[in-house]
Amino acid sequence: MTTAINPAERSSRSAPTRVELAALLAEARDRTLALIETVSEEDLRAQHDPLMGPILWDLGHIAHFEELWLDRNLDGKVEFVEMPGMYNPFEHPRRVRGALPLPSLSATLEAMAEIRERVLARLERVDLASDDPLLRDGYVYQMVLQHEYQHNETMLQTLQLKQGAPYQPAVRRQLHAGMADVVPGEMVRVDVGSATIGTDDRARAYDNERPRHAVHVAPYWIDRTPVTNGQYLAFMADDGYARAELWSDAGRTWLAETKAESPKYWWRESGEWLRRSMDQVERPAPDKPVIHVSYYEAEAFARWAGKRLPTETEWEVAASWDPGAERANAYPWGRREPRISDANLDQLGFDVAGIGGYRENVSPLGCYGMLGDAWEWTSTDFRGYPGFAAFPYPEYSEVFFGTEYKVLRGGSWATRFGAMRNTFRNWDYPIRRQIFSGFRCAR
Ligand SMILES: [Fe+2]
Repeated sequence: MTTAINPAERSSRSAPTRVELAALLAEARDRTLALIETVSEEDLRAQHDPLMGPILWDLGHIAHFEELWLDRNLDGKVEFVEMPGMYNPFEHPRRVRGALPLPSLSATLEAMAEIRERVLARLERVDLASDDPLLRDGYVYQMVLQHEYQHNETMLQTLQLKQGAPYQPAVRRQLHAGMADVVPGEMVRVDVGSATIGTDDRARAYDNERPRHAVHVAPYWIDRTPVTNGQYLAFMADDGYARAELWSDAGRTWLAETKAESPKYWWRESGEWLRRSMDQVERPAPDKPVIHVSYYEAEAFARWAGKRLPTETEWEVAASWDPGAERANAYPWGRREPRISDANLDQLGFDVAGIGGYRENVSPLGCYGMLGDAWEWTSTDFRGYPGFAAFPYPEYSEVFFGTEYKVLRGGSWATRFGAMRNTFRNWDYPIRRQIFSGFRCAR
């Protein structure tokens, strides 16, 4: 894990050079391999749960996605469906990937290295000042990098879910302690009238983040911090899971099917709740954001608290809008590039951290922890912004637009800095909670 460039600290607005892109590719691969350093081949090959495919598949898929976009694509336009069959996610949904004849770990690592060699040779010759929007400013490289970062998060979901002995990371970064001056449940009033959300960035942002557009927002209140374990335990103790009136129809159906009575990865032992993040078991720390909850649980908590979930627009305005300057910032802390100490992102803490501990992670409107720790459910369905245009392929975003998915914002401890900014949009089914999902409320 020794590389010259820390992706958290590299400028995103100046176009990256060839040397920087090569260093970022190397850094991304170092991280991917570091995450699996302590995992046996058997565990990498196993289908641990119908929700998640084998990690060995992710590794091959990362490499073949890279080959498609950074090698073959440069010979002439390719379509996403040209992904080789075995590693095409649409041909093989996660629940069946364990049955694929995946190559051995050593063969997979060899393929990854061989593809990378070709990609680096290509990088020497590619025209980064091209008129082609895919090449200009290295967009396609940023896309492939983010793809690897995002698959790292998927791999961490699998590792948290894995059967057998819990995952033990090879390296671990110390998390900041929470700060007592930040009070859970306290709200901020937002009355900005008009603002903008989204971005016109073409060097790194995904198609679904574009274009930047004006929004008119009615005044609202939003939680200063994510909802904590302490608040959530109060909801549980007040029979939150048993009170039908707190749950939506879909939420009640989910509750009846799952019989859930706590967040995922929580259990009760001698009358006391415990939770697990990878190999660490603890009593749920009252000042840590609650994580691994479904949209329905978030919705029920909000109703119990006399609140509701924020819309995606309300969330982004709270994270990005600087009312003094009347402009949106790329990060809660402003426009400067992130430093590792800004937020609990970047995976190596392997858990959420106490609220308020990352002092830079506060937006101009006064919201803490908008980025990092846990993804935050919003009440908004995943759709294209006005003026959306699929780029470079509809299979990234467009095929998921509709009413099936809810938008999540802000990243989690398992998200890398290079795949996180205020405008970043994630989406998932409201029943999902193997993802690193939490929430905050609005009113
Ligand atoms: Fe992928």
